[in-house]
Amino acid sequence: MTLKFAVPVALLGTGMYVPERVVTNDELTKMVETSDEWIIERTGIKERHIASEGEVTSQFAAKAGMEALRAAGITPEELDMIIVATNSPDMLFPGVGPLVQGMIKATKAGACDVQAGCTGCVYALVLASAGIGSGLWKKVLVIGAEALSRLVDWTDRNTCVLFGDGAGAVVLGVSEGKNAVLAAELHADGEKGDYIAFPGGLAARPANHASVDAGDHFVKMKGNEVFKYVNKVIPSFVKDVCEQAGLDISDIDAWIFHQANLRIIEGILRRLNVSEEKAIVNLQKYGNTSAASVFLALHEGFADGRISRGDKVMLVSFGAGMTYGAIILEI
Ligand code: ACO
Repeated sequence: MTLKFAVPVALLGTGMYVPERVVTNDELTKMVETSDEWIIERTGIKERHIASEGEVTSQFAAKAGMEALRAAGITPEELDMIIVATNSPDMLFPGVGPLVQGMIKATKAGACDVQAGCTGCVYALVLASAGIGSGLWKKVLVIGAEALSRLVDWTDRNTCVLFGDGAGAVVLGVSEGKNAVLAAELHADGEKGDYIAFPGGLAARPANHASVDAGDHFVKMKGNEVFKYVNKVIPSFVKDVCEQAGLDISDIDAWIFHQANLRIIEGILRRLNVSEEKAIVNLQKYGNTSAASVFLALHEGFADGRISRGDKVMLVSFGAGMTYGAIILEI
């Protein structure tokens, strides 16, 4: 059954920003024992944008957010809420949401962060939809933003080749017509929290010489476990969410999966019997931008005409937690 909100929700605009500095696979071979061939074959990634010295997540978030607001034709002062999904905030507090609120002068808006691994953007979009659908807010800016390169061990080839930096943004508002949110579902599997973790520097392991020596301030990932988990869980999950909306898999016009690994995306498409042309894939250029990835693909899908008004688009993500979630939009 299609979701029923008291107030219908519309997608009003999208935006994105990536830092200028591009790091190719060949450049990585100077840092760790790897090769362009290995990275392309195992992940599909060719290059990624990386924050330069002094650049931080809130700057990327504000730039992507402003682009989405311009596309939506609304000013920051009209916003009721800003929700930023990130795993690499400038600092623990203040959050990126309040920093962006101050930077763009969204004087009436509340602002906060959502931290749910790479799935954070889908979580944030669902929360924003519920906030508008209930009548609580009228205009919400949702951003996924990362400078995860700062949290990666650049001597660990298992992780450093995967990630990239950037931000994507979506503006949601009250619809004058149909409700754009056809279905949404969020999951967490906290018992698998050790699959992807950033253990150091906070309450469990406050920063000290020993934690720094142990490298606790870097992303730790059991890549192979994540790979197997996602392949097992996501295809049936996606089918369930489609069923909730009364849709067949073939009714979805465009698929946007978390841009972690091309092999994962291809595997899921195969299991769903969906042709690769229906999937928006841009991880070749950006790598895994974590909570930004799905929004980058959504924005580029619009920008290059692969997604048009009226299309049914399914956004699916997974990440640290383990978390996973999906939302179907009729754009
Ligand atoms: N270059 C060369 N060799 C490498 C590299 C590298 N960059 N990285 C690992 N290897 C080696 C390994 O050491 C291993 O060598 P060994 O057999 O001698 O031990 C070999 O390659 C195979 O390693 P696997 O881990 O089995 O490789 P796999 O094919 O699984 O690919 C990868 C690894 C790309 C990490 C994959 O498992 C993956 O993408 N997993 C999912 C990660 C993910 O989706 N994360 C999303 C969430 S992230 C978030 O929420 C923040």
